[in-house]
Amino acid sequence: MCGIIGYTGEKSGLDIVLQGLEALEYRGYDSAGLAVIENGEGKVFKQVGRVAGLRQVVNGQELAAHLAIGHTRWATHGRVTIQNAHPQVNSEQTIFVVHNGIIENFGELRDKLVANGYTFISETDTEVVPNLIDFYLKQLDSFKAAFEAALNDIHGAYSIVAISAHDPETLYAARLSSPLVIGVGENENFLASDPSAIIEHTKKVIYLEDYDVAVITKSDVKIHNLKQNTTPEPKVELIDYDNEEALLGDFPNFMFKEITETPAAIRSASLGRALADKNLVKLGGLESVIGQLKYIDRIVIVAMGTSYYAGLVGEYLIEELAGIPVEVQLASEFNYRNEPFSRSTALLAISQSGETADTIAALKKVEDYGVLRLGIVNAVGSTIARMTDAGVYCHAGPEKAVASTKAFIAQVTVLMLIALNLSKGRSKRFKPLLEELDVLPAKAQAILDQVENIKNIAEKYADYRDFLFIGRHNSFPAALEGALKLKEISYMHAEGYAAGEMKHGPLAMIDENFPTFAIATNSPLLDKTLSNIQEIRARKGPVVALATEGNESIKELCDDVIYIPNTEPETQPILQVIAMQLFAYYIAMKRGYDVDRPRNLAKSVTVE
Ligand code: G6P
Repeated sequence: MCGIIGYTGEKSGLDIVLQGLEALEYRGYDSAGLAVIENGEGKVFKQVGRVAGLRQVVNGQELAAHLAIGHTRWATHGRVTIQNAHPQVNSEQTIFVVHNGIIENFGELRDKLVANGYTFISETDTEVVPNLIDFYLKQLDSFKAAFEAALNDIHGAYSIVAISAHDPETLYAARLSSPLVIGVGENENFLASDPSAIIEHTKKVIYLEDYDVAVITKSDVKIHNLKQNTTPEPKVELIDYDNEEALLGDFPNFMFKEITETPAAIRSASLGRALADKNLVKLGGLESVIGQLKYIDRIVIVAMGTSYYAGLVGEYLIEELAGIPVEVQLASEFNYRNEPFSRSTALLAISQSGETADTIAALKKVEDYGVLRLGIVNAVGSTIARMTDAGVYCHAGPEKAVASTKAFIAQVTVLMLIALNLSKGRSKRFKPLLEELDVLPAKAQAILDQVENIKNIAEKYADYRDFLFIGRHNSFPAALEGALKLKEISYMHAEGYAAGEMKHGPLAMIDENFPTFAIATNSPLLDKTLSNIQEIRARKGPVVALATEGNESIKELCDDVIYIPNTEPETQPILQVIAMQLFAYYIAMKRGYDVDRPRNLAKSVTVE
């Protein structure tokens, strides 16, 4: 979603901010803008659409400004227009603000400001911020005091960065429930909503906490916590982020690159953790809470999107391997339910970005319950990683395409390790699964080696309007994820169903124009799924089956078959989903869509 970048130092603020905006593009946005301060005057440039367009608007400007802020906007309040793009400016054009999040009481604040003679030209909630700062600046003696007074009036979730035409060196920043990180350089400092925007310049960062207000010049960072009225000493941390991994290289797009990284994702998630030779699963991130884990008799998993489907696969793994009851909830639903929650229940949040607003809210909801809060997170140092009591990183590396691929594979791998770890070696499945994890990357690679075949099959189905995905047992959540992938990037209507539900509704939709993708890999339930396929075929529904190598007879029953290598029942969803990611990818490519940046969607959903 929206992205923020800020710079103060001796270099060209304009160049650094434009580069930073490009690095933030993957988050999803529909307009971009920046402001620089030069010779006591602020200059604003904005454009609807891509950062490349903004570059053209800025092109040819000789600006030596050393202070700059930039923003990529994903529209929430107000349409996608130049007026609504950030930075937003006060009526006198002296204060420039970029903002992520939502100001809930902006209507009330706007009425108050209008009554005081302020005019508004955008439809955004953000425009109240520069005007409110201006309002207080006329009464108080410093910009910082005015900034803090404005923040005290604002309700909602935000990360805000403000600069003033009268102060060509200082970035003013504030955070509440929306991430903001300071990058510490030599004679320069940076600000960003996400470390990927500044990683090219520095790996030294300071994460702002809720209610922190930071005043940043090229040589100094001062933090004041508004809620506690304290001045915490800035804590500089080194981030472990491989920038090379985040580059496209020779790949046609990030989605394809990231699907090809799925074998590596399985390997990295298990490296040093799944020790088949020692018959051991070692999860360093959970060691500090081993004592508490002993008393856990229920786990509630909260997540959104693809991470939620990974959670649904995890439910089978943890229940069947560790014998602990699991419930998986969409964080957005969990947050508004009043369910009984005992102290022996652990909350497990799953998130690729570690910044999903609903998932963060779920962790906050149970803050005072005294329960154990665990995380499975990919983005190192993200909000969820820092707010949980303990957790396991996915180590999938940066994921840039909006539709999640390798992160799902890593999440399910980690869930399997957690399930084995919680089973404490008692499960009979311990040894076979650890051995299977060793060979799973090669099996994933074998699927990637048959992309041409998957492409040919996928392209045959690119002109349909609808698609049904069906599966049973742990292939059911895999079917849900397969359908999600297809709808996200190809805009084709796709639904995932438990195959056993067919007669209870979905069968009514089946005819020659409504194809089904049936997960029919080896399992004790295979015959039941084959019966479902028969029923679909009897109603002229086209069927693509996903089957286990060696099952030749299924070809008689289906229009097309995609094969995956044989694997243990518990690891099947991993291989199934890789095949379905490729299937969705080739359909979307055939339909001519931008697979990395699907319309209306964002990578990191930082508002509810
Ligand atoms: C967005 C992304 C999805 C992702 C979901 C949850 O919708 O487009 O790919 O699965 O958010 O994100 P998280 O970062 O919490 O896994």
